[in-house]
Amino acid sequence: MPSWYNVHMPSFQVRTPGCPYDCIVERGAINRLSAAVPSKAGKLFVVTTQDVWQLHGERLRASLDGRSLETIFFPGKEENKRITQVEALAEQMVKAGADRTSIVIAFGGGIVGDLGGFLAAIFMRGVPVIQVPTTLLAQVDAAIGGKTGANLVAGKNLIGAFHQPLTVLVDPDVLATLPEREYRAGLYEVIKYGVISSPGLFERMARDAPKVMAKDPAIVEEIVAESVRIKAEVVSADEKEGGLRRILNYGHTIGHALEAETDYQQFLHGEAVAFGMRAVTHLSVLNGMLDSTVAARMIGAIDTYGRIPALDGIRAEALVARLGSDKKTIQGKVHFVLAEAVGKVVVRSGIDPGLVREATRMSLEELAA
Ligand code: GLY
Repeated sequence: MPSWYNVHMPSFQVRTPGCPYDCIVERGAINRLSAAVPSKAGKLFVVTTQDVWQLHGERLRASLDGRSLETIFFPGKEENKRITQVEALAEQMVKAGADRTSIVIAFGGGIVGDLGGFLAAIFMRGVPVIQVPTTLLAQVDAAIGGKTGANLVAGKNLIGAFHQPLTVLVDPDVLATLPEREYRAGLYEVIKYGVISSPGLFERMARDAPKVMAKDPAIVEEIVAESVRIKAEVVSADEKEGGLRRILNYGHTIGHALEAETDYQQFLHGEAVAFGMRAVTHLSVLNGMLDSTVAARMIGAIDTYGRIPALDGIRAEALVARLGSDKKTIQGKVHFVLAEAVGKVVVRSGIDPGLVREATRMSLEELAA
């Protein structure tokens, strides 16, 4: 076990005022689903997509020791993450006999976790949800912390609720079937955890990219566990994003602008965050907070995991113009998470818009085809 890896697997507790819960990170964790279901629970409803169910559904079903479950399918894709889908899933639950003792199992990537969690948050004014994430991004981020929601035409996740899960079951083995592009998109979020809080994780990601990319099972389990540990700690300290939790948005302010500017079609969320991390790294240097050699290492670590799709035709001015309508903009103030060192970030507002434009322009130029 590497020296930086100081966690006790497999379980990390999220301590929220409502009810603490465990995030179990273990190869084969899916097989523990039965133990995660309370003995008094009513019917189980698995919200999933056809592709996830085809790949892993039988294992999930087998883990329930013969107990029955209903599968309700969501078509997947960001454009379907809408309240109309939540309504359709709720109607299916009612038809299949759901009541207030039912439990939702959100089994899929971040979109399924967000939408399934939101369904659980509002179905009969709230039923429990168990999160079983199947993408790297969902395992290290989206499934933990209780953020659930759906998109409006006006923007991403603009409706939703905090609804903490009963348990999060993180099984790194399911990543073996994850397409490479989606895997890389999740790896950028792992680098994010290194930059915001864990120099050891950052060094591991910078140094061991070939093993990480080859999905070496031991390393994958380590980097997922360290990311989950950080996320669980941050959410425990600040459930509703009043303070510390904002550091998880490192790279997200400009990343969200890129996603919106390209109609959520061109980039996976993790890819947009990778662009945003690059831009805030430059911004941190331009703002006099970060040494340029450290910045180069941070950008180098991102690039080690491959380039995101080309950004031709996107203008820095257009991205900067979108920052004001981000959900994280509060009373007109755009907040940025800026880096001071590997493992140390701060939240700042009132940053000179000229510097933001310049940092964005530099990033676009570096990534032009
Ligand atoms: N994905 C950021 C958060 O959960 O706060």
